[in-house]
Amino acid sequence: MKKSLLLNLDYITSVVSSAYQKSLYAQSKTALQSLLQHQGLGNDFLGWVTLPTEMKKQVQSIKRAARALAQKCDAIICIGIGGSYLGIRSTLEALHDEVKTQIYYAGHHLSAHYLNRLMQELKDRQVGLCVISKSGTTTEPALVFRILKSWLEKKHGKNQAKQRIVAITDRSQGALKSLADAEGYPTLVIPDDVGGRYSVLTPVGLFPIAAAGISIDALLQGAEDAALDVSRLNIENNLAAQYAIARFALYQKGKVIEVLANFRPDLHFISEWWKQLFGESEGKDQQGIFPASVDLTTDLHSMGQFLQEGSRNIFETMVWVQKESHDLLVPGDPSNRDGLNFLKGKKVSWINEQAMRATAFAHQQGGVPVIQLQLAEMTPYCLGYLYQFFEMACGISGRLFQINPFDQPGVEAYKKNMFALLGKPGFEQLAAQLKKKGI
Ligand code: PA5
Repeated sequence: MKKSLLLNLDYITSVVSSAYQKSLYAQSKTALQSLLQHQGLGNDFLGWVTLPTEMKKQVQSIKRAARALAQKCDAIICIGIGGSYLGIRSTLEALHDEVKTQIYYAGHHLSAHYLNRLMQELKDRQVGLCVISKSGTTTEPALVFRILKSWLEKKHGKNQAKQRIVAITDRSQGALKSLADAEGYPTLVIPDDVGGRYSVLTPVGLFPIAAAGISIDALLQGAEDAALDVSRLNIENNLAAQYAIARFALYQKGKVIEVLANFRPDLHFISEWWKQLFGESEGKDQQGIFPASVDLTTDLHSMGQFLQEGSRNIFETMVWVQKESHDLLVPGDPSNRDGLNFLKGKKVSWINEQAMRATAFAHQQGGVPVIQLQLAEMTPYCLGYLYQFFEMACGISGRLFQINPFDQPGVEAYKKNMFALLGKPGFEQLAAQLKKKGI
């Protein structure tokens, strides 16, 4: 059977030899075992390890709820930020050909201009709202939900609006949970032991993805198979462990920035999801690999120079999708004024592949080690496989860095300042301190 995912480490061995990578196997094995046995730092947030199997039990009820909302609407606005936003968008953009109900996004920033435009664009549409927040207290989605709820009530009437709102949140805590209970909105639960950035395969991702018309069964099956592969394969053949080892070894050699590169624009948000996963998980105790991303070949004409010849503290991870679902052939042109007849009859996907191969070699020669990931095709199954692979790799990596990859204490600092500046009750003292400092 064709493998869903392949990993090629040939272009990193000039910086980290195979022997050096092997020296990290024992440590990685311990790391993997601690995840599988729900041990180690942050072990109360390891629900995602077996999540695909667990969620399969809820698939029918999620699909039913999703169908019920989708039947009433031709546009659904998902309101959420971070882990309550990125996995939905990365999935729906990557699988856009299969989307039947249009999904819009809000609550992932505070731009009034954006919100105004969204409401204007959807003024004559049958709109539904899916508000998502694990904590139920995050400012951006809470504020935007208040605004869109009031807009929806004016647009469809209070009772009708109620039928078009679904909340996805904690089982018992948070302002969103109380509000949903008070208003009688249908509610789906985010498991306690799954943090935001690991939650794409909980109702957070599954509900909107199903409402958009995409097969969540296949997504979960891919993830379940990835979880199985990671749990039973020895480190040598274990893609998630191999990827985690490669990154960690490169970091130890001074490659502190990882650039995830794709070769199709619909994967842009997979990179955004991946950045949150690795950035928020690893960036602790003044260490971690800074996750960046480029969309190629587009960014070869903006970031290409830096990647080829800039500071040599970078490594690249290229994601290539082997099978193109909608290919094109280059037409002939008798005049050949553009000089491109040498490509006549060639597939555009083949040309893109040569660009990928050329870039990987050039960057490696220029001192940027390149990890190559090949996904068989862009389907719900393969995408599910990819998500679980990255999450497992991130968990192993957290263990190698000896940090807790499941918390995010650092994101509180800006929030406290913002609450003080906004005049939130309880933040008066900090507000006075900031004022003294001229902030
Ligand atoms: O990974 C995380 O936990 C965070 O990035 C959250 O996903 C993000 O802050 C949104 O939180 P919440 O779902 O509680 O609104």
